[in-house]
Amino acid sequence: MKTAALHSLGCKVNSYETEAMQEIFTEHGYEIVSFEERADVYLINTCSVTNMADRKSRQMLHRARKQNPEALIIAAGCYVQAAGEELLKDPAVDILIGNNEKAGLSKILREWEESRRAFYVHDMSHERQYEELNHSRTAGHTRAFVKIQDGCDQFCAYCIIPYTRGRVRSRSLSDILSEVKALSENGYQEAVLTGIHLDSYGTDLEGCSLLDVIRAVADVDGIRRIRLGSLEPRIMTDEFVHGLAEVEKLCPHFHLSLQSGCDATLKRMNRKYDTQQFYACCERLRSCFDSPALTTDVMVGFPGETEEEFAQTLSFLKEIRFYEMHVFKYSRRKGTRADRMEQQIPEQIKTRRSEILLKLSEENSLRYRERLLGKTVEVLMEEACILHGRTWQIGHTREYVKVAVPSETPLTNRMVRVNVEQMSENGMLCGVLTNADRK
Ligand code: F3S
Repeated sequence: MKTAALHSLGCKVNSYETEAMQEIFTEHGYEIVSFEERADVYLINTCSVTNMADRKSRQMLHRARKQNPEALIIAAGCYVQAAGEELLKDPAVDILIGNNEKAGLSKILREWEESRRAFYVHDMSHERQYEELNHSRTAGHTRAFVKIQDGCDQFCAYCIIPYTRGRVRSRSLSDILSEVKALSENGYQEAVLTGIHLDSYGTDLEGCSLLDVIRAVADVDGIRRIRLGSLEPRIMTDEFVHGLAEVEKLCPHFHLSLQSGCDATLKRMNRKYDTQQFYACCERLRSCFDSPALTTDVMVGFPGETEEEFAQTLSFLKEIRFYEMHVFKYSRRKGTRADRMEQQIPEQIKTRRSEILLKLSEENSLRYRERLLGKTVEVLMEEACILHGRTWQIGHTREYVKVAVPSETPLTNRMVRVNVEQMSENGMLCGVLTNADRK
């Protein structure tokens, strides 16, 4: 039996597509092995979001070639899309698969056998078709990502994605639902709806909005929780947020991509909202949901970010009190407007700013979790682990707070209620099952 090893770089959408391609390999009789093993075929689903991501993508391709010089090496995804024919000259790579070509993997393998055709990359700027890829299983046992949208029309100054992924394309509701049903039949209870720019879902369709998708997924038997990928404040109108609040299965966990808490910086980034709109959006969510977990991405050291601008971001973040913040140091990407901007910020300043925000993130996160002490929460159990000589069952609440319960009985994929009693040294909430769930 031939073996295939796959590796995914970059975002959740890329991981989803890698899993979908893994299923194509399996359907064609390949055994999937880990990337560290010697395989007959290696597929690297690359990322190109920063110059560093390009470098990592190249490194992984070379690593695969080194592991088995005879193997067939396939490079797929955003770096392939960006680097194009240049990558063809690299002896580490045999086949190049750009975006919106991944679903053709079986045909591509066949054509390689027949004619050694190697180049499957087309101009994404004119692509209007959503590429249907799907998966029925995923690495975790309980939570499955479901891609519902591709492409982005926003053109933020630091981002290459609109060029690598092309314009907004939405997946049809019927395709989304058949994937969600298949996942649910395989036991997945939590669906995470994701995309490159989820807010844009439906703008290229007639009569189907993101809210329609959420409601329809909530009606699928067996799905008990829905989470949403990253959103921006502009979509959070009164109508939308009230609509969300009516969907009981929707988890009160919202990832709102902020990037900066300073209006001047947001403007230079070409983000399409200001801090006032962002604040209003958080308030709206807080008024419609009971203590929702608000999480965000923040970028420090964007070109021209002065101490005063950073101070504004810091004070805005203190005001909002996110449950969690993913803090990134701005990293240059060739071909973007930000890369050509003057006043690039030195690395040590970015590091200092990032450390300040990470500290704030930890404090806010701790405060948010402390509020759950003494409460009874619903937890979807995901895995077991042994800590300090004891077996623990671990899962997440609807707000995406991790909770551990001491129990020898495997509980994976069970929805239980837990009385939260204490917080461990590493900040994890620990508790006991309620009487009803002990049975
Ligand atoms: Fe990277 Fe492409 Fe995702 S550039 S972050 S893999 S959309």
